[in-house]
Amino acid sequence: MVKVITYGTYDLLHYGHIRLLERAKALGDYLIVGITSDDYDKTRGKINNQQSLMERIAGVEATGLADEIIVEEYEGQKIDDIRRYNVDIFTVGSDWVGKFDYLNEFCKVIYLPRTEGISSSAIRAEKRKLRIGTMGDGGLVRKFIREIGFVNGVDHVNCGTDLENVDAVYVASLPENHYHDVKNALLRGKHVICESPIALRREQCEELMALAQKQGLILTDAIKTAYSTAYSRLLVVAKSGRIGEIISVDATCTSMQDCSWKQDADLTQKQNSICAWGPTAMLPVFQLLGTHYKQKTILTRFLNKELKFDAYTKIDFVYPNAVASVKVAKAAKAEGELIITGTKGYIYVPAPWWKTDYFEVRFENPADNKRFFYQLDGEGIRYEIVAFARAIERKRGNYSISQETSTAICSVIEDYYNADLMEI
Ligand code: CTP
Repeated sequence: MVKVITYGTYDLLHYGHIRLLERAKALGDYLIVGITSDDYDKTRGKINNQQSLMERIAGVEATGLADEIIVEEYEGQKIDDIRRYNVDIFTVGSDWVGKFDYLNEFCKVIYLPRTEGISSSAIRAEKRKLRIGTMGDGGLVRKFIREIGFVNGVDHVNCGTDLENVDAVYVASLPENHYHDVKNALLRGKHVICESPIALRREQCEELMALAQKQGLILTDAIKTAYSTAYSRLLVVAKSGRIGEIISVDATCTSMQDCSWKQDADLTQKQNSICAWGPTAMLPVFQLLGTHYKQKTILTRFLNKELKFDAYTKIDFVYPNAVASVKVAKAAKAEGELIITGTKGYIYVPAPWWKTDYFEVRFENPADNKRFFYQLDGEGIRYEIVAFARAIERKRGNYSISQETSTAICSVIEDYYNADLMEI
């Protein structure tokens, strides 16, 4: 019996896939189809799959061409599979010519001509067609536009203030303008992804959330860290009890690139430390300990008190059974790490933790330590755009950042501006 194996993602099964499978099957007597897992695809930079692994498996199953379906989960698995299943022929489409020649050592390798004029990417782009405009200027917007290029079916469109030719808007204006800009976009029927904080007052944030819901629109915070795989996995590990009960979350975010500003005029055009970094630093605190803290203290060193421009701010939160502290700075420097302290061990994320592909779970005995590595492309921004586009399609809010977290962030920012701060 001649055993043939082939691999692919098989998202939105199309006739190019079917023709490939038919010809693969005809090469032998028994066809094994390896379908890539979502995680493995992400490590290969394939972030656009629209169907889940189970849906993709069901699609291939329904063709009736596969005698066996397996899941491809890691780099190097092909060799293991070829040996394990006693495979005689490995085959894929001609878009991979040369890439799998190394498998000739284990079995025969055949590249089949790819069917012209069709691909999952093209179908996804055709299905989606989401036009995103941007508001604001500078590095954030430039990065966002660059990352849009990696997402199937999403295009950046230059929009004026009327927002007529877009479906959605990325708001990266100065934080004090967010409320107005987001409201304007929602009233014009546009979905919004806004740099956090969405507003400088809790009430305003709640009003915007309610407006979005009423209009049937998606409104979400743009905090790229929330979409990084390493970050979302560390939340799971922390909540799983592996480090015991969480008793402290400590997050530090600093960036010094702007510390040479001297003029008030410059400062009015920049985000202060609390707005630039506060939302990111507060994210793990609220996502791990919740938003119902008993008490908080805000300590600040001002760069310009009148403008409420903080060089450095430290916020201490007290929870019934835990504490947290966030430290943010644009005119002071510290190690940008995240530490989650538990009763059995701790999670350590090295600087810059907000764009990490790696974390460690550490214990008293270093032999028990474990390191976790994940793929991170585009600092998480492209995953954030994929999640935003999916939320729009599914007309369902954001899984990664809850409304409760968004409003809690705005609430803290409001207190920074209104409460008596402790100056240091
Ligand atoms: N394939 C093919 N002809 C096409 C598309 C795909 O022969 N028009 C083959 C690929 O060469 C591969 C298998 O089908 O052997 C699965 O390909 P996959 O990457 O899942 O499909 P694509 O349509 O190429 O997906 P994408 O656009 O996301 O790259």
